[in-house]
Amino acid sequence: MAIMIAAQQLSRTFGPIKAVDGVSFSVSRGEVLGFLGPNGAGKSTTMKMLTCFLTPSSGTAKVGGYDIIEQSREVRKVLGYLPENAPLYGEMEVGEFLRFVAEVRELPLNERNAAVDRVIAMTSLGAVVRQRIETLSKGYKRRVGLAQALVHDPAILILDEPTDGLDPNQKHEVRELINSMAKEKCIILSTHILEEVDAVCTRAVIISKGKVVADATPEELKRRSASHGAVSITFSEQPSAETVAGLRALTGVREVASHRIAGSRVTYVLRPQPGTNVLPRVVEEVERWKWPVTDVRLEMGQLDEVFREITR
Ligand SMILES: Nc1ncnc2c1ncn2[C@@H]1O[C@H](COP(=O)(O)OP(=O)(O)O)[C@@H](O)[C@H]1O
Ligand SMILES: [Mg+2]
Repeated sequence: MAIMIAAQQLSRTFGPIKAVDGVSFSVSRGEVLGFLGPNGAGKSTTMKMLTCFLTPSSGTAKVGGYDIIEQSREVRKVLGYLPENAPLYGEMEVGEFLRFVAEVRELPLNERNAAVDRVIAMTSLGAVVRQRIETLSKGYKRRVGLAQALVHDPAILILDEPTDGLDPNQKHEVRELINSMAKEKCIILSTHILEEVDAVCTRAVIISKGKVVADATPEELKRRSASHGAVSITFSEQPSAETVAGLRALTGVREVASHRIAGSRVTYVLRPQPGTNVLPRVVEEVERWKWPVTDVRLEMGQLDEVFREITR
């Protein structure tokens, strides 16, 4: 895989604040890297350095093979950037603004209209082409920001909270769009929405207080969660003491916790010995004893559990 972005000990201070503190990671073509972290973790500052909007206090990065300090013009050409607060020209109409971006991006004259039409279709902006940007809702403004990042069909995309301010349908559309581009491009997006990481990211870098605290696939992260591999079993009524003892005695079960849910239903959570899958045994028991069970499920683990654990 071709490495398209390589950050090497990137750091940035603002007076006494270490906003980014020795961040290193790399991203290849075909990867969608989720940049995760609590507010103020340093995500936007890192992205501003990668896109040459801020100079690092120390460290550097290569983007598309170019150095962000020595070759910032080339870096800007190979990437599309959606900043946190997209600085859009409010008095311009959407179509007019995108044609302006095509011109600034030095697209050949005869390709500009097609490029603008293409991004308008990709970001579903057709209905507002003739509308002034300042009159758009936050969701539409965000999509105009995304469209301007795509006009020159860059190989690298850096998107700072691309779904911020969008309603659930629009979020879904933008995630589909990112997924559709994922194969040919190298994409970094920041988010604090964990389900987004599951929906679009091939890898997640978690940053906290300016430092990388995890770099793994979403699946690897979930495996670190305390609930990974647990089996939950819901009874339609309180099971007998004998049944509960039966659950405890199953091979591979380390611990059993229970909690009551709506009405008379009770859920038991069986935590397994490390590396054991107790689901088949649980299902066998349910069938053998004809327990009044409404639901049995294997828990894959919770990203938010891991996220809280790591960034606390
Ligand atoms: N221009 C700036 N001047 C001073 N402090 C800043 C500036 N930009 C960011 N910071 C500080 O740097 C830290 C990281 O901010 P930021 O990168 O925006 O975090 P995130 O995007 O993860 O929420 C925060 O403490 C923020 O207040
Ligand atoms: Mg930010």
